[in-house]
Amino acid sequence: MSLPETMTAIGYEAPGGPDVLVPVTRPVPAPGPGEILVRLAAAGVNRPDVLQRQGGYPPPKGASDIPGLEIAGTVVAQGPGAGRFALGASVVGLVAGGGYAEYAVVHETNALPVPRGLDLVAAAGIPETFFTVWSNVFDRAGLKPGETFMVHGGTSGIGTTAIQLAKAFGATVIATAGSAAKCQVCRDLGADLAVDYREQEFVTAAKDFTGGRGVDVILDMVGGDYIDKNHEAAAVEGRIVQIAFLKGPKATVNFTRLMLKRLVHTGSTLRAREVPFKAAIAGALEAKVWPLIEAGTVRVVMDSTFPLAEAAAAHARMETNAHIGKIVLTV
Ligand SMILES: NC(=O)c1ccc[n+]([C@@H]2O[C@H](COP(=O)([O-])OP(=O)(O)OC[C@H]3O[C@@H](n4cnc5c(N)ncnc54)[C@H](OP(=O)(O)O)[C@@H]3O)[C@@H](O)[C@H]2O)c1
Repeated sequence: MSLPETMTAIGYEAPGGPDVLVPVTRPVPAPGPGEILVRLAAAGVNRPDVLQRQGGYPPPKGASDIPGLEIAGTVVAQGPGAGRFALGASVVGLVAGGGYAEYAVVHETNALPVPRGLDLVAAAGIPETFFTVWSNVFDRAGLKPGETFMVHGGTSGIGTTAIQLAKAFGATVIATAGSAAKCQVCRDLGADLAVDYREQEFVTAAKDFTGGRGVDVILDMVGGDYIDKNHEAAAVEGRIVQIAFLKGPKATVNFTRLMLKRLVHTGSTLRAREVPFKAAIAGALEAKVWPLIEAGTVRVVMDSTFPLAEAAAAHARMETNAHIGKIVLTV
């Protein structure tokens, strides 16, 4: 298969608002050992891409400076030793950068077959949120069937995934979101309780809903004053996983609750983790979650699509916070 030497990607000269994102011409990347080259059909947009564009989340060492953490498309070349996917196979992939482009390389162990029945555009919205939720909610926090789970930002890409997976694996689910309409979406996705945090204090709502017991596992992307509130909302032996700080990383916290309730407050970032770590998550997802997607039990909640060249408009949409679910670039 003959491949072009150059491609269109999305880059930026200096950090700034959405408009700094412009089409640029770059060499088509060459797949290294164990890697595959994918001709993209679509790339997912994630909040970390917005933070990167604003200058607050630089790519890890060795990663492409082109934004974009998740891709879907067709395998067009294999690097040395790569053989998991045939040329022409449809795959999704988790990348540490380089997703906003016509071509991207991904290690074959960090790629997965497109779930049967899903088109490539929806598939592009899978990797970043599914890897993140699996790793943090099930591996780190150890959510078990019968436990109560709460996610903030219930209609975010992360939130829509977390609600569905927690529910599918037998948890009782509480979600918080910023409007009545967003709360309805959370309930439609399976949340047993959705709290409009602008109207109601989520700690009180969660305590009332659990008969005063509190929540076993909390996935938090908000931080700020939510940190102390999460400790208050947690049950004895509760686990709180921090994946972002939309309201800031600093807080005044009463640590008495941490001791008295024997809480575990942990956190992680996915992007800079090594390839084998992500490969292990990929294996768990393929075994346990792909069948749920293929059965229609768990779906990708799509907000909107934008052509690759209009990545700036996609970021502007994300920054309105009006979106529900995934924003995807079509290539
Ligand atoms: N640690 C990791 O490995 C990792 C990986 C992926 C993503 N993340 C993080 O996870 C978060 C979600 O990512 P995403 O791509 O799913 O984002 P997203 O779809 O853009 O959703 C973010 C949502 O957060 C809510 N929000 C924004 N500002 C808020 C505030 N000040 N207080 C409360 N809620 C606020 C908004 O919904 P409301 O209208 O309901 O407020 C918004 O829709 C991001 O912060 C991202 O950086 C972390």
